[in-house]
Amino acid sequence: MQFKPQKMLICYIKKLKIHSRKKKTMKRMHSYWLSSAVVATIAFAGFAIAQQKMSMPDATPVAPAPDAAVAVAPASAPQLDNAAIQALPIGAERGRIIAMQPGACFTCHSGTGDSVIPANPKLAGQHEAYLEKQLHDFKVAEGAEKAMRVNTTMNGMAAGLSDGDIKSLAAWFASQKQTPVPAQIDAREMSDLGKKIFFGGVASKGLPACAACHGPTGAGIAAKYPRVSGQFASYLEKQLKGFRDDKLPEGRANNEAMMQISKRMTDTEIKAVADYMAGVR
Ligand code: HEC
Ligand code: HEC
Repeated sequence: MQFKPQKMLICYIKKLKIHSRKKKTMKRMHSYWLSSAVVATIAFAGFAIAQQKMSMPDATPVAPAPDAAVAVAPASAPQLDNAAIQALPIGAERGRIIAMQPGACFTCHSGTGDSVIPANPKLAGQHEAYLEKQLHDFKVAEGAEKAMRVNTTMNGMAAGLSDGDIKSLAAWFASQKQTPVPAQIDAREMSDLGKKIFFGGVASKGLPACAACHGPTGAGIAAKYPRVSGQFASYLEKQLKGFRDDKLPEGRANNEAMMQISKRMTDTEIKAVADYMAGVR
């Protein structure tokens, strides 16, 4: 694996267009982090939780201080070079170690994949085969102009992963527990519309019920259909628009059914069903 964490993170932060209020919070969090760094070495057990909260401040500085860069390295997994990682047996433990390497998955998705920032989807509890497929789809196939699923950050992240790394990462995140996000619907009509589409589709335009494939509780169906419940609504909305128009800068041409389905939906319908789906249990 060849992570270029600094470059990736800078580019990612630029994309986030963090406004000043968020910056202030992060500054605060950053100083909190510094002061707790000493404690953290002793309070080893608390590290996993702290690190999830700290993932943004780690990513904040455009030119991180040298000691801040060291601090990004999680204490709970050994830091290994690529040769050592490739020598590990394929499986969840190798996935965990890869995820915890400096600048790797944990910085955005948290170490267990239970992300807290809506732009970064939750991976915890997602189906293994689906995660594996996505990581392959983020890679640019030989001879292809671009990846089937375009996202600059993830295209960069996936590029250096071997098949064994991908299998291991999928196994690790699939075995972790997701903390579901609460439903975010604030208007009754939107909720009704979302519910109607999720369970019944829209017959007049051949839009199928989402529940047919994603399951009545949104938990998906192992191997083929991803979990959508408990995911961030804004992320789901972005994916539906990505499927609908794969020419978008972050388009997604990695599933024919979803590309067809999303083309039959208006922006309002997409928002309504995304909001509903996130909260369905
Ligand atoms: C700098 C932040 C960042 C890092 C580091 C990162 N990701 Fe991501 N990841 C994202 C974002 C943002 C998306 C959503 C992309 C989109 O909008 O299509 C994503 C999407 C994904 C998805 C698709 C999820 C879904 O529901 O379809 C998978 C799988 C994934 N990442 C795995 C990983 C793995 C494994 C690593 C470490 C090797 C990693 N990510 C590192 C930001 C990151
Ligand atoms: C015929 C089966 C089928 C139906 C019906 C269906 N989906 Fe999907 N959906 C899929 C599959 C398969 C994927 C995974 C695509 C891939 O491999 O990238 C998916 C992926 C998604 C994703 C991306 C999830 C992620 O983590 O990135 C969203 C969002 C989604 N579907 C929403 C919907 C909505 C909303 C509906 C109803 C209007 C719907 N789907 C109906 C099969 C279906």
